[in-house]
Amino acid sequence: MNFNEIAKNRYSCRAFDGNKPVEDEKIKSILESTVLSPSACNSQPYHFTVCKGEKAKEIAKATQSMGMNKFTTDAPVMIVISEDNYNKTANIGSKIKNNDYRSIDIGIATAYLTAEATVQGLGTCILGWFDDKKIRNICGLNNPVRLVVALGYAKEGSAIPSKKRKDYDVLVSEV
Ligand SMILES: Cc1cc2nc3c(=O)[nH]c(=O)nc-3n(C[C@H](O)[C@H](O)[C@H](O)COP(=O)(O)O)c2cc1C
Repeated sequence: MNFNEIAKNRYSCRAFDGNKPVEDEKIKSILESTVLSPSACNSQPYHFTVCKGEKAKEIAKATQSMGMNKFTTDAPVMIVISEDNYNKTANIGSKIKNNDYRSIDIGIATAYLTAEATVQGLGTCILGWFDDKKIRNICGLNNPVRLVVALGYAKEGSAIPSKKRKDYDVLVSEV
């Protein structure tokens, strides 16, 4: 798949096959691509906690308040993405420029993660709705959780939904 094909094939999977585990080599390959993503001052201010089995179920529950994200119950893997410290230069740069590079870096890394998962034939759903405190407890993390990614094989028969996006001309301009 070239990148354009990856972009068209990736979608937020909300129907996982709960009976089909994800191969460890695939999880490793996904995270190896993820950590090649760029970050401000090469700081890589994040950590990835891979949760499988009962741990994945516990994390899934922590994404499900107010009727949200019920589908995560079937995801065989949940990847918790938490912040880590900046290195010195990114710390100084973020203060001088008043810019939260950590969240930007986590966003880019997550895009790599979902792209490589697509190449590996796996479905993903990025989750921003979760209970930070509960997840930190489950994973033993001291830093804030910023995103969770549900990972697994899509249920047989799932189709890629058509992409709904703003018009290109609204999103892109030239001056
Ligand atoms: C930061 C972020 C948080 C998101 N949180 C959730 C979520 O909690 N639950 C969910 O079902 N989808 C969530 N999504 C998925 C978006 O709804 C989805 O990416 C968007 O509607 C575009 O659809 P697509 O991913 O299928 O192309 C999130 C996506 C991002 C980038």
